[in-house]
This record gives sequence, structure tokens and C-alpha cells, in this order.
Amino acid sequence: MNQTSILHKLHRVSACVIGAYVAVHLFNHGLVLRGVEAHIQFMESFRHIYRTPFVEGLLFVCIIFQIGSGVYFIKKRWRQRHGFFERVQVISGGYLVFFFLVHIGAVLFGRAVLGLDTNLYYAVAGMHVPYFQYFFVPYYFFAVAAFFGHIASAFYWLMRNRLSEVARNYFGYTILVAGIVFSTLIVATFAGVFYDIKIPQEYIETYQP
Ligand code: HEM
Repeated sequence: MNQTSILHKLHRVSACVIGAYVAVHLFNHGLVLRGVEAHIQFMESFRHIYRTPFVEGLLFVCIIFQIGSGVYFIKKRWRQRHGFFERVQVISGGYLVFFFLVHIGAVLFGRAVLGLDTNLYYAVAGMHVPYFQYFFVPYYFFAVAAFFGHIASAFYWLMRNRLSEVARNYFGYTILVAGIVFSTLIVATFAGVFYDIKIPQEYIETYQP
């Protein structure tokens, strides 16, 4: 086994660790469709599991490794990717690198520097302060869509010897479209399209000079 294929294997293992957290994290965000309380309550109970030094440490190491190996893969096959899912893989991966850096940085900053509870209000306050919504709406929308896009392309690649081209396309597009629909619904809810979200003043103040 050469170094690149070991790196690919590790990238996949690390993706499973991060993916397990993100799957529950996005289920948590989906609960906003039922209301703010449902979202906050679930996050508070889920925190008992992930806010432990072991789980957070493991997540942090995997994210750093994923960013490093992801950037390496993007550079290694630059301009050599063909076909829809190969392109989705590199575009979504590139966006996730950017998103992880900003998102994790913001969560750590909110906790350590601002001393805030980094809950739903912290995440979505920017969507309720003019003109920050022009950043936050696409920023979150593309993050969730990129996560699903990356899974769709991984599925398309991993099934290359097991399924026909038609079946791989069918499932790949289904995962991608489901992700886009889900992302639209939760980001629209966060932005207050379906019901009003009253953001506490301490979160709004983080956007004021
Ligand atoms: C609508 C989109 C999203 C929103 C509103 C959001 C919001 C949040 C919030 C509020 C936290 C802090 C949790 C806490 O303090 O307990 C958090 C943490 C985190 N999010 Fe997201 N997130 C979104 C999408 C994503 C996506 C797409 C990913 C990964 C692909 C992701 C990965 C993470 C990770 C790794 C953490 C750190 C967990 C920790 O505290 O140890 N998030 N997010």
C-alpha cells in the first residue's frame, strides 16, 4: 500500500468520526422546524456526550487531519477531475475546509472570548442583524449542501464496482437533492421565514460596534 492510499483510508476513517457527529448535529438543526425549544433542549442533552475532553479532542484532531488531507487531495489532482460527482467532490470538500475553519473558530471564540452559550441564538443571530444575513444565509446553506454533496460523491465513487452507472447516478442525485431541500428548510427557519425567532440582546450585541 502506498502513502497516498493510506492517506485516503485515514481520510475515510476520519470522515466517519466527523460524519457521526455532524449527522446528529444536523438532526439537531432539523428540530428547529418544530421550534426553538426543541432545538435548544436536544443540544443541551447531546452536549453531555460531545462536550467531553475525549470526544471534543478526537473531533478536533479529525477535523485538523481532514482539512490537511483534503487540501492535499485537492492540490494533487488539480484540474484532473472530470464528470459531475468528481467536480462536486472537490468543490464541496474545498467549501467544507473554509467552513470548518470559520465555524470551529467562531464556536471557540464565542465560548472562550465572549463567554457566551454557543447555542442556536449564537449561531443564527447574524441572520437577524442587517446586513449580516447576506453572509450567514449562504454561508450555512452551502455548508449543509456541501456536507450532503460530499457524501453523494463519496457514495458515487465507493459504489463504482458494485452498482451500475444509472443506479450510482440515481442515488447520488437523490442524496444531493435531499441535502439541498433540507438545507433550504432549516436555513429559512433560522432566518425567521416560518416563524419569528427572538434573539436575546447579548447575542445581537456581538454584531454592534
Ligand atoms: C445550519 C448550519 C449549522 C449551524 C447553525 C451550526 C451551529 C453550530 C453551533 C451552535 C455549534 C456549537 C455547539 C455547542 O456549543 O454545543 C456548532 C458546533 C459545531 N458544528 Fe455546527 N452548525 C451548522 C452546520 C454544521 C456543519 C455542516 C458541520 C460540519 C460539516 C458542523 C460542524 C460542527 C462542529 C464539528 C462543531 C463543534 C462541536 C463541539 O463543540 O465540539 N456544523 N455548530
